[in-house]
Amino acid sequence: MAAGDLTQTAGTARQVIVTADADALAVEAAKRVIARISQSKRPAICLTGGTTPQRLYALLGRAPFSSQIDWRRTHWFIGDERFVPTNDPRSNIGAAKAIFLDRCAPAANIHAIPTDPATPHAAAQRYERDLQDFYGAHRLDPARPLFDIVLMGVGSDGHTASLFPQAAALTERQRWVVGIETAMLEPFVPRVSLTLPALASCGEMLFMLEGKTKQAIFKRIQAGEDLPAARARSNNVTIWLVDRAAADQQP
Ligand code: 6PG
Repeated sequence: MAAGDLTQTAGTARQVIVTADADALAVEAAKRVIARISQSKRPAICLTGGTTPQRLYALLGRAPFSSQIDWRRTHWFIGDERFVPTNDPRSNIGAAKAIFLDRCAPAANIHAIPTDPATPHAAAQRYERDLQDFYGAHRLDPARPLFDIVLMGVGSDGHTASLFPQAAALTERQRWVVGIETAMLEPFVPRVSLTLPALASCGEMLFMLEGKTKQAIFKRIQAGEDLPAARARSNNVTIWLVDRAAADQQP
């Protein structure tokens, strides 16, 4: 695996790890999730949506990885959600529940973003309260991360979670969760998203990019373009897991 720092920024350097392919990326991500769980007294894992993490979710839900997770102690959250019912195929937590959470995790440990409130803003307020109840405070302490690991993806426009380019939500510094009325990329449904400060409150932020379709956006990130995915980073460790196809590296 090749590795190297993309850029040193305030607080954390972003480290890129290139994996041979998507399967190797999912295995590396699973090992990192499990390492964070094993190091934590009360593991809090923030999942992401989209298709990229689904290979990882399938690994977490079966041997040998599933038996390495203390499911009783581990709590699962989601970094952003489409404002649709959980049984809607576009639901991020719905996909994670179907792939592994419902089979492996106690229901009380699965913290979905509610999509039954009247508006995305009301849903965001409710999830923010849920997070603060779990954390035990209303203010994030840099010395005490909210999550042990936050998984992140990158859209072709450079969005991450549901933080789209030029969105006002990108500069939100107080709120932990915000409602997003208009998505700038498929699926065009309202969203609910954690903000950059809440996502940054983690031991490790783990981006996952795979496939040729992500080559262009990865090049833009590497060139230093000011995109949401480039702004997002952990207050501690930020890792970009990129397979060779997305990194445009020949085998
Ligand atoms: C979402 C995700 C989003 C995702 C990227 C990449 O709700 O869509 O949270 O941020 O990570 O769009 O999606 P893919 O993995 O499907 O390319």
